Amino acid sequence: MVEDGPVREVLRRPRAPYTRELLAAIPSAASRGARLAGDRPAATAARGEPASPRRSDDEVVLEASRLTKTYALRGPGQERFTALDDVSFRLHRGEALGIVGESGSGKTTCADIVLALTRPDSGEVRLHGRPWSVLTERERRASRRLVQYVPQDPLSSFDPRWTVGQVLAENIPRQDSRAQRRDLAVAALERVGLTAGHLTRRPRSLSGGQRQRVAIARALIAEPEIIVCDEPLSALDVLIQAQVLDLIADLRAELGTSLLFISHDLGVVHHLADRVLVFKEGRVVERGDVDEVLKAPRHAYTRELLASLPGQALRTT
Ligand SMILES: Nc1ncnc2c1ncn2[C@@H]1O[C@H](COP(=O)(O)OP(=O)(O)OP(=O)(O)O)[C@@H](O)[C@H]1O
Ligand SMILES: [Mg+2]
Repeated sequence: MVEDGPVREVLRRPRAPYTRELLAAIPSAASRGARLAGDRPAATAARGEPASPRRSDDEVVLEASRLTKTYALRGPGQERFTALDDVSFRLHRGEALGIVGESGSGKTTCADIVLALTRPDSGEVRLHGRPWSVLTERERRASRRLVQYVPQDPLSSFDPRWTVGQVLAENIPRQDSRAQRRDLAVAALERVGLTAGHLTRRPRSLSGGQRQRVAIARALIAEPEIIVCDEPLSALDVLIQAQVLDLIADLRAELGTSLLFISHDLGVVHHLADRVLVFKEGRVVERGDVDEVLKAPRHAYTRELLASLPGQALRTT
């Protein structure tokens, strides 16, 4: 135990350096554009202010137009349930687009369509202005690497027979030698706070947070143009989360990677996203600049979402 006391006292006026470090790592509106992980040794090489993301508002990398998805409901009448209803958005180069909304509002369905894991009933996703969601899997294969996924439930996306090393090696874009691939895999693990010792482990034997970090490393190693993240930080402690958020910022700066970032944590969204979409019952009920939407929400549902956020009073002090 490094510090104890009444909650307000400890959280508002932390004395132990470690408590200070923990509190400083919490993402929020105030931490936008700043590094969260400070000088922790495991953090990425860069220090101080992250380079600003290489954004280009003219270059649309991905466009979703009027996406709709329904599922058959069992039982009499055979009605269909609408999971996604007329959803459109654009993702620019280097941009981070946040998606927030209640459970069951269609966020993962939307991510799956963007990743071409699910076909929309109507509407279309285009990549660099060219067809994407309408292609056959064979036609898509060459470009698959460009759109990476950090799924909500990483375990189900790993082949249970594979080691972490195999999972990572498979996603390396170039035809490097075995030794080079191993070095790249170790570097990717270190960037997410894991070590070479994890290469021979199987994902099933890792903790939830470690698995999530392997999923993030797998996405990064492919040097993608777009990363679709579905609650990628939910199983991480606040310091590792800070490290991963810094890493994502570096990647955007270095490679101009775009993000579609689904999260229940509005602090994370405010820290990271440029624009945000608010989902409710399969529809986008509000959209816009992250500061505008989260500081001055127009839709009643967005206001409700913000009001229900615990710790808001502490964060703003
Ligand atoms: N394969 C399926 N068959 C039937 N219904 C489905 C299917 N997949 C999703 N749904 C339904 O579609 C709705 C949207 O699901 P989705 O997973 O997109 O929600 P979500 O916004 O990601 O929620 P959460 O925040 O809980 O992850 C839910 O009501 C879900 O039950
Ligand atoms: Mg989901």
